[in-house]
Order: sequence, then C-alpha cells, then structure tokens
Amino acid sequence: MEQPVLVLGATGFVGRRLVAALLAADHRVRCLVRDPQRARDLAGDRVELVQGDMLDAAAVEQAAESVHAVHFLVHTLSRQSRRDVDFMEVEQAGLRNVVDAARRHGVRRLLYLTAIGTAPDAASSWGRGRARTEQMLFASGLDVTVLRPGMIVGHGGDGFGMIERGARTPVAMIMAGRRTRFRTVAVDDLAGALVQLMDEPRAHGRHFDVGSDDILTVGQMIDEAAAHLGRRPPLKLYLPRRAVAALAPVLERAAGMPKGAVAGFVGPGSDADLVGDASPIRSLLSRPPIGYREAMAAALANAS
Ligand SMILES: NC(=O)c1ccc[n+]([C@@H]2O[C@H](COP(=O)([O-])OP(=O)(O)OC[C@H]3O[C@@H](n4cnc5c(N)ncnc54)[C@H](OP(=O)(O)O)[C@@H]3O)[C@@H](O)[C@H]2O)c1
Repeated sequence: MEQPVLVLGATGFVGRRLVAALLAADHRVRCLVRDPQRARDLAGDRVELVQGDMLDAAAVEQAAESVHAVHFLVHTLSRQSRRDVDFMEVEQAGLRNVVDAARRHGVRRLLYLTAIGTAPDAASSWGRGRARTEQMLFASGLDVTVLRPGMIVGHGGDGFGMIERGARTPVAMIMAGRRTRFRTVAVDDLAGALVQLMDEPRAHGRHFDVGSDDILTVGQMIDEAAAHLGRRPPLKLYLPRRAVAALAPVLERAAGMPKGAVAGFVGPGSDADLVGDASPIRSLLSRPPIGYREAMAAALANAS
C-alpha cells in the first residue's frame, strides 16, 4: 500500500488546504493533531489522525512511522504547553522531534513552511529566528525544502482575515505598516506547490520565496476587495505597533501563547516589506500562480 504523507498543522489555515491538495493528487495522508475534535472533518478513508502535540517526542515518532514525506505547517502563535520559552524555540523543539523521528524511521523528505523575510540579518526577530530554524534543518542531513510565502490569500487566514474584515466595514483596523508591501499568493497555489515539490529532487536543500507577481500593501488589498464587493474603500486605522508591543506580554499570557508570539510580530523591523524573489521556484512548478484579484475573489466567494 502507498505510504502516507504526514502533515503537522493539518487543522490550520494552510494545513487544511494542503490535506485537500494531497488527497486530490491521490496521496494518503496522516495528520498529527492536538485535538481530534478540531480535525473531525478531516478524517476519512484516506486520512488517518494521530493524536499528539509536536512537543511530545513519542507522539511524533508514532506519527512518522512508514511515511513518505513530512510537511511541517505549524504556527506557534497559539496556546502551547510550553510558555516559558520563546515561540521560535517551541517551533524548533517540535522540528527537532520531527527530524529525530524521521531519522529513526528512515524518512528522507521534509518540507517546512515559513515566510518571506527570513534571513540571518533580518530586521525582525522572527525573521532571524526562523533563519536559525532553516539552518538547523539544512544541517539535519534530511532532504529539506523550505517554502516562504508573503501574504497568503484565502478565506480563514490570519493575514487575509484582516483584509476580509476591512473590506466589509466602513473603518478598517490594520495591523501592518502603512507602506509595507507583501507578495501575495493564493492559498491553493501554495498548497499545490508543496505537493509538487514533495517529489522534486531539484528542490532538495533549497529555500524558495513563493507567490504571484502582485505586490501590494494591506490598504491596497483591502481597497481591491472592497471594490470587488461593490463597497466604498474604508477609512483605514493603522494600529500603533509600539503600543501593541508594550501590551504584548499581557496579551501573550492571556492567550496562553509562548513568549514573543505577539511581540515578535510588532517589534523592530516588523514593518519591512515581505516581497522576496519568487522567480526561482517557477521553473519547478507546472503552472504559473494566479494573481491577487483572482485569489481574493475566490477567497471572498468561499466566505459567503
Ligand atoms: N497565515 C498567513 O497569512 C501566513 C503568511 C505567511 C506565512 N505563514 C506561515 O504558514 C505556516 C502555517 O500558518 P497557518 O496560518 O496555516 O497557521 P494556523 O492556521 O495558525 O495553524 C497552525 C497549525 O499548527 C498547529 N499547531 C500549533 N501548535 C502545535 C503543536 N504544539 N503541536 C502540533 N500542532 C500544533 C495548530 O493545531 P491546533 O488546531 O491544535 O491549534 C494548527 O493546525 C506558519 O509557519 C506561518 O508562519 C502564514
């Protein structure tokens, strides 16, 4: 029988779309999920659920047995069993469990989803933290591929949720720099790229920025979405990042998030452009990405 593909983060925004894309490409899927209730709708003939936290080495080991490849799409900006450490360290601890389990079971292939703006000298602490994570993975000896999106366009996403809400109200609250530009990518294009690159040896040991040629500010994305809905462009209120940064420790404790989960996204350098260079990945993919307008229209249609 065909080996399943393991997905961590399957109950998340991108993870759900990846599971659907893997099934559409005739793969079997295994998901490591913290709460099977949240994954009820994922379970099916060709989808197996293993209950567990990525910080539980035994659960990860069980989930990684006899799999063809592992996709890591976890976001640690959520309630975590370890709150004493930085949210980047939580992610790295989970990835170390994945690498150890993969080595023990002879699994070679690991795909890690992160974000544009990852670099050892990035202005933001999360950009530098995730660069350390990538270095750890590339040194693991596994066949690793890292995909870095900017703004992921799809219903239910954290970033695109701000655009959906903003487009439907007279006053949009924006948690991003007024001039910060994002490369946009349709969530299904991103999921499709993860599926295609899974069996692409030319992608081993490489990281790729991914996305369309449409590079926009959040304000521009909101205005285009509002126009699509036949609404006036809303008034835009940019939340002061310094004030949010000052409140970050309180917000993190209240939400049970690990340290830095909020602060890392509003601290110094968090208003840098997330554009990157998406041309290297294009030659490895079978079709070009769709643009912002088409992706946004599909996302808004999914919401209704
Ligand atoms: N959303 C965006 O616009 C965007 C943009 C650029 C890059 N990205 C990157 O894309 C990746 C996925 O983001 P997303 O928006 O899909 O995230 P998401 O919707 O917040 O989903 C996160 C997933 O991680 C799982 N998870 C969290 N902690 C876990 C743990 N300790 N053990 C096991 N599973 C755990 C969650 O499971 P539960 O259901 O149990 O909470 C959920 O399935 C992230 O690396 C993010 O940085 C996202």
